Amino acid sequence: MPYKVAVVGATGNVGREMLSVLAERAFPVSEVVALASTRSVGTEVSFGDGTLKVKALDYYDFRGTDIVLMSAGGRVSKEWSPKIADAGALVIDNSSQWRMDRQVPLVVPEVNAQVLEGGIPKGIIANPNCSTIQLVVALKPLHDAATIKRLVVSTYQSVSGTGKDAMDELFTQTRAVFVTDPLEPKIYPKRIAFNVIPQGGTFLDSGYTTEEWKMMVEVQKILDPDIQTTCTVVRVPVFIGHSEAVTMEFEKPITAQAARAMLREAPGVLVVDKHEDGGYVTPVEAAGEDAVYVSRIRKDPTVEHGLVMWVVSDNLRKGAATNAVQIAECLMNRNLLKKAA
Ligand SMILES: NC(=O)c1ccc[n+]([C@@H]2O[C@H](COP(=O)([O-])OP(=O)(O)OC[C@H]3O[C@@H](n4cnc5c(N)ncnc54)[C@H](OP(=O)(O)O)[C@@H]3O)[C@@H](O)[C@H]2O)c1
Repeated sequence: MPYKVAVVGATGNVGREMLSVLAERAFPVSEVVALASTRSVGTEVSFGDGTLKVKALDYYDFRGTDIVLMSAGGRVSKEWSPKIADAGALVIDNSSQWRMDRQVPLVVPEVNAQVLEGGIPKGIIANPNCSTIQLVVALKPLHDAATIKRLVVSTYQSVSGTGKDAMDELFTQTRAVFVTDPLEPKIYPKRIAFNVIPQGGTFLDSGYTTEEWKMMVEVQKILDPDIQTTCTVVRVPVFIGHSEAVTMEFEKPITAQAARAMLREAPGVLVVDKHEDGGYVTPVEAAGEDAVYVSRIRKDPTVEHGLVMWVVSDNLRKGAATNAVQIAECLMNRNLLKKAA
């Protein structure tokens, strides 16, 4: 049964990728509607072999739409997701607005698809943060086998995670360095070109940033409330692809060799782990792909049961668009997707 699907934020990094993923995976659609702000009305975006003319979210009537993939930020989602759900459409939201709401499932299909069976009381499902998604896909088989107690994560996050204006900022600043133009940070608090910035989001009283807090609490909601996480989010001058150095402490024994074998079998994971020059994956290779790549799996000799690994994925695809479309596929396959009246 084909579905009428709307993509809100269709001109953005994630929205464009959502349209690509819907077409690539041949999601059964009767119609796809591209929505953005009034600034973009009439702009064309690609969908499959064709194009769609962007319409304004503000004037769109959602009655008769089955699924809405939202990726226009928290403020827009706060205002619009409940209205869209009231109109009878199911919302899959990419912002952080609803993630920690107890009545909103927070889903990574390879990890906790079963929570969808528990109901969707608000008509909204949340897509986790991009760096959380790739992390929990890689953690799941290891947690099932040996129970993770504690995590230490350092991220190396690409600028596309901050939106299209941040990608422009990296490009403009990089060129400015070469032609010795003045260099003015606008999106980030400090220069991003040829630099790294240890701040994601804004600062909390605890000294952590909002992006760090999201990972710490989302891992608990998706995987296990007993997992303690500390993390440092760092923005790096990479256009696409987030990387993470992950240190795990387990309750039970687990060897690097066993972990490698489990990860090789895990859904959504590709292990590339040769102990030689270049025997690991970097963000440039992960860009445009859907897999979560795991490399550098090794023992942490500083604790009784510990491992360390390197996790890389395309933040716009598995970290956002692909995960959202996989949630819709999951609902469809479990007969949980109702047609709008
Ligand atoms: N990038 C990632 O890795 C990633 C991963 C997971 C989740 N997310 C989340 O996904 C959302 C979008 O991220 P992005 O990277 O795609 O941002 P982006 O490239 O800056 O795009 C933002 C989109 O939102 C639209 N928009 C902004 N204000 C609007 C309004 N008032 N009404 C309707 N549409 C509006 C924009 O339309 P105009 O072009 O008309 O302004 C554009 O289509 C954010 O909540 C972000 O946190 C991003």
